[in-house]
Amino acid sequence: MEFSVFGERLAQGSGIEELMHDLGRAMEEGGEGMMMLGGGQPAMIPELTTLWRERLQEILEQDGGVENLVGTYDPPGGQTEFLEALVSFFKEEFGWALSRENLAITAGGQTAFFLLFNALAGLQPDGSRKKILLPLVPEYIGYANQAVSEDIFVALMPKIEAIGEHQFKYKVDFEALEVTEEIAAICVSRPTNPSGNVLRDEEIQQLSDIAKEHGIPLIIDNAYGAPFPHIFFAEASPCWDDHVILTMSLSKIGLPGTRTGIVLASPDVAAAVTSMVAISGLANGNLGQRLTLPLIENGELYRLSKQVVKPFYQEKSHLAQYWVAQYFEETLPYRVHLSEGALFLWIHFEGLPISSRELYERLKKRGVLVISGDYFFFGLEEEWQHTQECIRVTYTMPAEIVEEGIRVIGEEVSKVYREKCE
Ligand SMILES: Cc1ncc(COP(=O)(O)O)c(C=O)c1O
Repeated sequence: MEFSVFGERLAQGSGIEELMHDLGRAMEEGGEGMMMLGGGQPAMIPELTTLWRERLQEILEQDGGVENLVGTYDPPGGQTEFLEALVSFFKEEFGWALSRENLAITAGGQTAFFLLFNALAGLQPDGSRKKILLPLVPEYIGYANQAVSEDIFVALMPKIEAIGEHQFKYKVDFEALEVTEEIAAICVSRPTNPSGNVLRDEEIQQLSDIAKEHGIPLIIDNAYGAPFPHIFFAEASPCWDDHVILTMSLSKIGLPGTRTGIVLASPDVAAAVTSMVAISGLANGNLGQRLTLPLIENGELYRLSKQVVKPFYQEKSHLAQYWVAQYFEETLPYRVHLSEGALFLWIHFEGLPISSRELYERLKKRGVLVISGDYFFFGLEEEWQHTQECIRVTYTMPAEIVEEGIRVIGEEVSKVYREKCE
């Protein structure tokens, strides 16, 4: 089959597709024999699972509930009641002055990014070409292959702050950050997948000011942030402004199967997303919006996020860090990124004698699946050894699997360094 440029770029495999295949297969097969510390699958939190079951039951028993759930197309921008509930919620909780026109629903955050990136960057009507600036990499692997016609990412190396013996934090290198005519938008995930970094309020403010000054949007990917799922452990406030495009998702609250993303933006951007949804898919799935509507109206989803989801993952993060400290040899030159949110530990091995992809293969042979860190450094022009020295380890699996996985990682990496000395 001969493919178009779009087909060549999108129809022939990618890192994210491999990852999702691996994850999907392992989930279907029950992950037999593999310690799955690779994917971004959220945990099944009992309180939440019970809640979804109860909500489904309620819908089934409601007069017209089933018809409304599976028998209707929603408007492409989202169900009106759901949008109204979000507007009231954001007004009350965060004081944001917005209306339904500021919102658009998509089939998950992933689709929101596909639409937004391609609507903003690439070939422009005047023949020029524009790019998306990632002010800090490593950044979410899911963006990497989304551009339909040409590479659209430019990325900046972070500053690295070493903390104690075995921790570190990435920071935006504002001195190196340059916004040229070529930049269509700035984009960050906060908390960041893969590093668990949470950009400080000052950093976000500075990025926001820079974007505003240049008349371009700042896209903040809030897949793990507030108000839901609220998987962040650092001091940080949610942020929105007219020139900010804030994306949210119901996935990490435990509803990835509903594919529900929320875009909060200026009315022209929200309308553009709605148009693209109509063209590419007519409408979005109804399920996520129906399930969560009363829980957004009564604030329950926010409460559960803060009181159940956040502590659940924070505990998992603490345990994972504890096992790293326990099982990694003290002399191993490793540093874990400050775990400030999301579902992962990001570990850097300084001077790792093999590439992180080779380490990935060795760990896979030992029954542990992680993700090689190099996937997350797209858009960088410079060579940087650091990109070959990191792995991402997901800590959402049951405790005994995470503990054993971390033990094996520590053992294997020590072996790698020892082999170098022999
Ligand atoms: C940072 C980030 N953004 C967006 C997404 C997309 O998630 P979804 O399409 O399930 O909303 C993910 C998924 O893991 C993510 O980690």
